[in-house]
Amino acid sequence: MSLLGTDYSAYTSTDRLPSAEELARQEEMIGRAGELVLGLKEKLGRVPTACVVTFGCQMNARDSEKLCGILERCGYALSEDEEADLVLYNTCTVRDNANQRVYGRLGHLHAMKKKHPEKRIALCGCMVQEPSVIERITTTMPFVDLIFGTHNIYKFPELLVRMLEADHMIVDVWKDTPEIVEDLPVKRKYAFKSGVNIMFGCNNFCTYCIVPYVRGRERSRASKDILREVERLAADGVSEVMLLGQNVNSYGKGLEGEVSFPQLLKEVEKVDGIRRIRFMTSHPKDLSPELIEVMAASEKICSHLHLPVQSGSSRVLKMMNRCYDREGYMDLLARLKDAMPDLSVTTDIIVGFPGETPEDIEETISLVREAQYDNAFTFIYSPRTGTPAASMPRCMSDEEIKDGFERLLSVVQETARMRVRRFEGRTEEALVEGMNDQDPAMVTGRLGSNLLVHFAGDESMIGKYYPVKLRENKGFYFVGERE
Ligand code: 5AD
Ligand code: SF4
Repeated sequence: MSLLGTDYSAYTSTDRLPSAEELARQEEMIGRAGELVLGLKEKLGRVPTACVVTFGCQMNARDSEKLCGILERCGYALSEDEEADLVLYNTCTVRDNANQRVYGRLGHLHAMKKKHPEKRIALCGCMVQEPSVIERITTTMPFVDLIFGTHNIYKFPELLVRMLEADHMIVDVWKDTPEIVEDLPVKRKYAFKSGVNIMFGCNNFCTYCIVPYVRGRERSRASKDILREVERLAADGVSEVMLLGQNVNSYGKGLEGEVSFPQLLKEVEKVDGIRRIRFMTSHPKDLSPELIEVMAASEKICSHLHLPVQSGSSRVLKMMNRCYDREGYMDLLARLKDAMPDLSVTTDIIVGFPGETPEDIEETISLVREAQYDNAFTFIYSPRTGTPAASMPRCMSDEEIKDGFERLLSVVQETARMRVRRFEGRTEEALVEGMNDQDPAMVTGRLGSNLLVHFAGDESMIGKYYPVKLRENKGFYFVGERE
């Protein structure tokens, strides 16, 4: 079954308004939800609590901050505890194990709800964009109160009102939307750093990937809106921004008169108060020479690039529809390292793609050795319904895939350990992100390269930058000393 061909009209709202009007409508809904939450407060004799659980990527983490902002404005006290009066799962579906985790945890929520029938359970995010998931939840999990998708997240205040007023499950999932609604409330997880969406969706259709189906077609935000958001964040004490998109290198395509991604970076760089700029994710096929120039010349863009390769075999890359081959990727990497010799590069790799053979895995392993990644996220291929790869025959047994995966992982770890050695004894600037989990006399900071360093400090240092001497190499992180 093709996801694109699925008819969602039964669930589709038709009252789409231009974004300013839509924003006003949702503001009004926040007021209405606030009254309902107040009623709940009187009934419970305490402030109702809400817990948002994020699965998946940085985009979802940013969406969760918006959901939390709305919940807080409606009068909920935010909590990390799933015993809360309202639990919202912001789901991921990039691999099937993400779905299975959600199903498992929903079982636990159901048990809690049996004891506290007032509890509300809501689901949103990528997983519920899949028709088979909606089917399963609506038929077997009637205890779920609200389901909404990735395209109408800005309607959350209105959906909250509907959920709080209803005594049955509300399902509102759209197939797509051209709409980008700006300026909804946001509750940031960190005071000093923030993600900033620069685009939504993806047009690449890598054959294994469900993202273009669940996040829709690529839509870039206007650069003036992005810059206004960055300026506001800076005024609010944020010094590090991460520009977010499925393929940031194609930012601006399809928007009349819009700037390119490197030009956008240059504009973000001009914002006073912003000290570090990161971005994610870069598709190698769209990474321009201009971006390399802008990165190399920049004082603020961090010396770290996440550049997913997926496979080291040109044959597999072709089947994946990645639009580059091994040579093209390695050439790009060489140009990046020529311009920025100290650049940290991380990647994503899939093992077990249909049609992949043990020889192809050997090619991936040899690419990892050649590329010398600072780190790599390795995944076993997971078939996603509706994607072209899901109907391609596979060539390897589970054992061969597992064996290849483990061999790859050990090479990834070996090269990462080697790469990290270049930092030994250096003094680098660290942004303190929080207290150390294990030692209350230590703080944890992040370097521009994305490496973590633990050093002596206290809470007053959180959100500030310190030069730190990187003394002890612990393999994947350092223990250091403030200079
Ligand atoms: N199976 C396994 N890994 C996948 N990814 C995307 N789709 C799949 C899939 N079907 C990986 C890719 C991508 C990362 C975010 O997730 O490596 O870069
Ligand atoms: Fe998926 Fe490819 Fe788009 Fe990344 S670029 S989200 S892997 S389709």
